[in-house]
Amino acid sequence: MEIKLRPYQLSDVDDFMEWVCDDQVIRTSRLRYYTSREEALDYLREVAIPHPWYRAICLEDRPIGFICVKPGSDYEICRGQISYALGSKYWNKGITTEAVKLVISSVFEEFPNMERLEGFANVEIKASQRVLEKAGFQKEEPYG
Ligand SMILES: CC(C)(COP(=O)(O)OP(=O)(O)OC[C@H]1O[C@@H](n2cnc3c(N)ncnc32)[C@H](O)[C@@H]1OP(=O)(O)O)[C@@H](O)C(=O)NCCC(=O)NCCS
Repeated sequence: MEIKLRPYQLSDVDDFMEWVCDDQVIRTSRLRYYTSREEALDYLREVAIPHPWYRAICLEDRPIGFICVKPGSDYEICRGQISYALGSKYWNKGITTEAVKLVISSVFEEFPNMERLEGFANVEIKASQRVLEKAGFQKEEPYG
């Protein structure tokens, strides 16, 4: 199963809605629920497409989730934050772990100021913790 990462396009809206309106995904993530195609199109147009690094996780060129890296700014320019979600029918096949590894293989070249990539996993979402662990992230206790 080959997965690829690419930017979202407005024409992806129907595939985007399929995973973003997936109750199991919404329940365990901080994503909001989209009630209409227009709202989803607005999100793609205003947030996902202009974002510095927001990619569709694609299977046979069809988006089945997202992965994004938010680069830090100002005094946090050396750190980036990764987040992701995948449609529930594709869970537990290693897809997100593979996507995270693909990101790691290129993101430090794309953002030369970035020295550290961080992932925040909700303690209750074991699958997300496991993804970070399998992709080689080191666990740190929360600071603050
Ligand atoms: C978290 C998420 C992205 C994982 O994607 P995925 O493609 O299924 O991840 P992978 O298949 O690469 O790895 C999942 C791992 O978690 C494990 N896992 C799944 N559910 C688990 C649970 N309840 N307890 C412990 N481990 C669990 C799987 O067994 C697998 O580990 P393994 O390969 O050692 O068996 C996906 O579940 C998702 O989109 N969830 C909703 C959004 C979300 O939670 N995003 C992260 C916000 S913190």
